[in-house]
Order: sequence, then C-alpha cells, then structure tokens
Amino acid sequence: MKTVQVKDRSFTLLITAEQIRKRVSELAREINRDMEGKNPLFLVMLNGAFMFAADLLKEISIPCEISFVKYASYCGVESSGRLNKLIGLKESLRDRCVVILEDIVDSGLTMSQLLEELKTKKTAELYVATCAFKPEAIKTDFKPDYIGFCIPDVFLVGYGLDYGGYGRNLEAIYELKSH
Ligand code: IMP
Ligand code: MG
Repeated sequence: MKTVQVKDRSFTLLITAEQIRKRVSELAREINRDMEGKNPLFLVMLNGAFMFAADLLKEISIPCEISFVKYASYCGVESSGRLNKLIGLKESLRDRCVVILEDIVDSGLTMSQLLEELKTKKTAELYVATCAFKPEAIKTDFKPDYIGFCIPDVFLVGYGLDYGGYGRNLEAIYELKSH
C-alpha cells in the first residue's frame, strides 16, 4: 500500500488521483446541469479548496464568476465568541446564486458559521460543494449539497488538505496511519 511521509507522520493512500479526477468530473456535470441559467458565483475557500476548485472549475461550462475567500482568526482580544472573520469578499452577493467550494466538512462548524454570515448578504440561493465529507464527525445539522467523497472520521492530507501546512500539493488523498 502506498504511503507518504508528511512531517513526522505516515499516511496511507485512501483516494487515488484517478478516482478524484473521475468524481470531480461527475460533480462538475451535475453543477453544470443544476446551475444552468443561474450565472453562479463560486466562492473558493482558501487555502484548502484551491486544488479541488481548480480541477472542478475547468469543467464548468456555464457562465460563472469565481472569487477567493479565506477565514482568518481574529487578532487581538475578541471575546464575542466568534472565532473567524471572512476576508477577501469583494463581490455583492445580493440576489446571486452562490456556490461555496470547500476542501472538507468535518464538524461542520466552519460551514455553519459561514452560511449564517452569507445569508445576511441576501443571496438568492446558497449551495456548498465539498471535496470530502465526514458524516460521522458532523456536529451540526448541516449537510453539503454536493459531496465528492464521504469518508470515515480519519485525518487526511493531500489534494489541498494539509498537516501542519504540509502535504497540500499531493495529487491524491491520504489518511493518517494508525499505529
Ligand atoms: P470543520 O469546521 O470541523 O468542518 O472543519 C473545517 C476545516 O478543518 C476544513 O476546511 C479543513 O481546513 C480542516 N480539516 C478538517 N478535517 C481535516 C482533515 O482530515 N485534514 C486536514 N484538514 C482538515
Ligand atoms: Mg478549509
């Protein structure tokens, strides 16, 4: 079984680059069909979704706009209970069909917070497409609209996902080896 070393940990191959290519094409076809005539705005969640987004968007054939956003931790003393701040959003979302592209939905807390925030911007329609989804790890009632792969509750690297900043460039998805 193929393994890779990322920093101090070993990971084993879970989803091959070929499986990813095939599945991403299927998702693109579904989105092309569902979003026809809606002029969607794709919001790419950096850093993790960069590779998934690049592959998926190459196969989107309907007119669309693409923007890149990032969740950044608040600096300084913020005791409002909110952990993150959305940066990079320049476009107006009012009356737009918005499709968020995410690398992975784990607990779902990031996505729930983001959706709350985007709903206040009066979007017409709001969808989430994620490369990976861990159904066993979810802590909210959120479910993505488009899912590349449902995976067990394991730690992954590759295809945009990182371990301590490393491993994002791997073309396949690997899972943390249990000792
Ligand atoms: P959530 O808020 O728990 O759903 O997690 C959101 C973020 O945590 C994702 O966008 C990833 O950046 C990161 N994350 C969750 N699971 C993994 C993993 O298995 N490997 C690498 N990053 C992960
Ligand atoms: Mg992420």
